[in-house]
Amino acid sequence: MIRSVVLGCGSYLPERVLSNAELAKKVDTSDEWIVQRTGIQQRHIAAEGEFTSHLAIKAAQAALKNAGIDAQSIDLIVLATSTPDNTFPATAVAVQNALGMTHGAAFDLQAVCSGFIFALTTADSLLRTGAGKRALVIGAETFSRILDWTDRGTCVLFGDGAGAVVLEAQQQDGTAADRGVLTTHLRSDGRHKQKLYVDGGPSSTQTVGYLRMEGREVFKHAVGMITDVIVDAFAATGESAETIDWFVPHQANKRIIDASAQKLHIAPQKVVLTVDRHGNTSAASIPLALSVAVNDGRIKKGDLVLLEAMGGGFTWGSALLRW
Ligand code: ACO
Repeated sequence: MIRSVVLGCGSYLPERVLSNAELAKKVDTSDEWIVQRTGIQQRHIAAEGEFTSHLAIKAAQAALKNAGIDAQSIDLIVLATSTPDNTFPATAVAVQNALGMTHGAAFDLQAVCSGFIFALTTADSLLRTGAGKRALVIGAETFSRILDWTDRGTCVLFGDGAGAVVLEAQQQDGTAADRGVLTTHLRSDGRHKQKLYVDGGPSSTQTVGYLRMEGREVFKHAVGMITDVIVDAFAATGESAETIDWFVPHQANKRIIDASAQKLHIAPQKVVLTVDRHGNTSAASIPLALSVAVNDGRIKKGDLVLLEAMGGGFTWGSALLRW
């Protein structure tokens, strides 16, 4: 059977680092409060004139280099973002253009913090139909542009960044030992749409708007939703907390990650954590974390990697893949 195998991954973080101590000078907060409630110590912030596409292009170039392939061999770009350069066209076509590609297809997808899981699932599905041979799956965000910097309940949580993976459709045996994406599970429930949203948009206010969140409500639902879709992934593959090598969750809050891992009996040493340095970079957080763990030698070819995310909508999902 055809599987979407990861050929490489890459990421990019803006140069500017914003520490908790610096933030405490702007809003009524403290390093202690932020670290204790979220695990976040710092986040990266895009420079003036640095757009989501610029971050995405750098992450895509790093992923192509890591995969050892040329952009001309990519047939598909799926870019997950909630902070596009423009309302349209898709940020993905800016990436396509910068990479010098004039063939194939590029489009954006929006599922907030679950965006990378939704994009990976979409690209995997298209590759398995034969719609293309190689895909770039990107998560890229400049959440700093939609934060209300006077709201201490939200502005301390998020950061900017981008990550990307290159997938290739490969013939595999159809067994548990296969490399590639083994299973994906997507969910959403629009009853929760007012708990985490942006209060603007082209059709409603003709403005971009600011992120609004009922943090406690999000927290309350997060662990249950995350663990449900991971149980689905284990049931679909016969894998388990014991057989996975790495757990690479969406990086929103260390407490949510720890509670999810604990509920599923995933050993703490298998958890890849970057929220301390990156903050919540929404759709970019999983490919950023993958990139960190690949570069420092933790994730290796053949490792079983579990991904999950939950975010605005609510949307949530999981993916299990063999690297
Ligand atoms: N610094 C200091 N105090 C603060 C801050 C801050 N930055 N923010 C809030 N507080 C205060 C509140 O005003 C409140 O004070 P009060 O008791 O006097 O009213 C107190 O701290 C407790 O506030 P809570 O909101 O109840 O704090 P909580 O323990 O729930 O932590 C947090 C807040 C960190 C936001 C938590 O609820 C959380 O992580 N929720 C999930 C958020 C999340 O993961 N969002 C991303 C989802 S992904 C996506 O799709 C974008």
